[in-house]
Amino acid sequence: MDFKNVAVIGCGKLGGTMVGCLASRGFNVTAVDVSEAAVNALNNGEAPAQENGLDELIAANKEKITATMSHEDAILKSDISFVIIPTPSDKSGAFTNQYAIHAFKEIGKALAKKDSYHTVVLTSTVMPGSTRSVLLPVLEENSGKKCGEDFGLCYSPEFIALGTVIRDYLNPDFYLVGEFDKQSGDYLEYVNNAVALNHAPTKRMTLENAELAKIAVNSFVTMKISYANMLADMCEKIPGGNVDVVSDALGMDKRIGRHYLTGGFGYGGPCFPRDNVALDYAGRKLGANTILLRTNDDFNRNISPRIVERINTYLNADDTVSVLGLSYKPLSHLIEESPGIYLCDSLASMGYRVLGYDPLANEYAKQALKNTLILDDLEECLNQSNVILVTNNDDVFTSLSANDYLGNKDSVTIVDFWRCLPDEIKNDSRITYVPLGKCLDDETAAKNLSSLWN
Ligand SMILES: NC(=O)c1ccc[n+]([C@@H]2O[C@H](COP(=O)([O-])OP(=O)(O)OC[C@H]3O[C@@H](n4cnc5c(N)ncnc54)[C@H](O)[C@@H]3O)[C@@H](O)[C@H]2O)c1
Repeated sequence: MDFKNVAVIGCGKLGGTMVGCLASRGFNVTAVDVSEAAVNALNNGEAPAQENGLDELIAANKEKITATMSHEDAILKSDISFVIIPTPSDKSGAFTNQYAIHAFKEIGKALAKKDSYHTVVLTSTVMPGSTRSVLLPVLEENSGKKCGEDFGLCYSPEFIALGTVIRDYLNPDFYLVGEFDKQSGDYLEYVNNAVALNHAPTKRMTLENAELAKIAVNSFVTMKISYANMLADMCEKIPGGNVDVVSDALGMDKRIGRHYLTGGFGYGGPCFPRDNVALDYAGRKLGANTILLRTNDDFNRNISPRIVERINTYLNADDTVSVLGLSYKPLSHLIEESPGIYLCDSLASMGYRVLGYDPLANEYAKQALKNTLILDDLEECLNQSNVILVTNNDDVFTSLSANDYLGNKDSVTIVDFWRCLPDEIKNDSRITYVPLGKCLDDETAAKNLSSLWN
């Protein structure tokens, strides 16, 4: 097998990065988007979406990239096309297919004009059954051709985290390939083997198993996060308790592993919460017992209110509190379901003066938060606040010194959600340092612990 022409349909946060990565691995990429801005950006050698390192990657590979608004152009010029369009959740929590249906109609019409075999790969996250029962018929109706004979169809999601999409895409743990027909699976495996820098293995299966596996991976990871947050809560209540020590021990067990087992704050962002809710919806519809998933979601949504209650005990009515970290995680500009945004909103509605700062998400936070003053100058933010909440472990915050945090004040309280600040800060007598996930009062904790055996 030897082909070099691929298409990417939908050039947002994930698709835009795939365009750059595929081009960097030697493929000629025709990129399609319904957004003129995205198409123009790519044709000018610029990133169509915000992602770490993407501008440079697209610029370095612009000779291999052509962008267009015509699905037909892209399908006729390529042997395989990856579809990465939005699949927003509806009220029930299920992923919707309307954008995918539009894209597949256009692809179907183009397939009608194509003589050679073409593989269509859906990468977007969908409800199990969508690829075969909803989208395959759209391709067949609009092309007048038969799937498995004239063209092939796969469902193959990516496991990437925003902020590190390029690295994750090029170095996956494994490839998840759901295939309608063997030939399309072979075509996809050929591309994957040419893309991966790390010889990642492939798991091939039916479309439905792959659709389920994709959501289940994300949902399982959220359970690990919740578990670590539960341990963090318990560690605060036992003498000498330290969630990092306990998690390190758990992580040594190969059945568990250390990744995503660091208690700190709840999960947020555009994928984790909604994937968990969608899996629960799918399970309930199928008559499975998914109480585990609902409990996980409830548990996660309760973390921020509990933390607000706890922080409230450190605050006086006239305090100015600053929240450092407004995106749902470091290196991201996204504030969707961000616990930092929740903190700002809640503390401000309790009457505190709240300031916010984020290295990337300030503009979005300004639009979302009417009762919080978002400052573009970190130094000013630190100067004005006597209580500082460090909600994520961005280098911008972990590289600050004790004097930076103190600014023009004599003392300051710092709540360190991820226990990520340097020892200099922890040991400074002018700073009241509050790490989450660690016990701060051994004596009381020891007394409380005695209730376990008395
Ligand atoms: N972003 C992530 O971290 C991530 C991770 C895993 C899976 N996913 C899944 O990937 C899919 C896309 O996510 P995203 O974050 O890249 O979305 P996005 O909103 O950033 O980008 C989607 C792009 O598709 C374009 N588009 C919409 N309809 C189109 C059509 N008919 N033809 C061509 N282009 C079209 C939009 O203009 C946009 O540029 C979703 O299903 C998401 O759940 C995303």
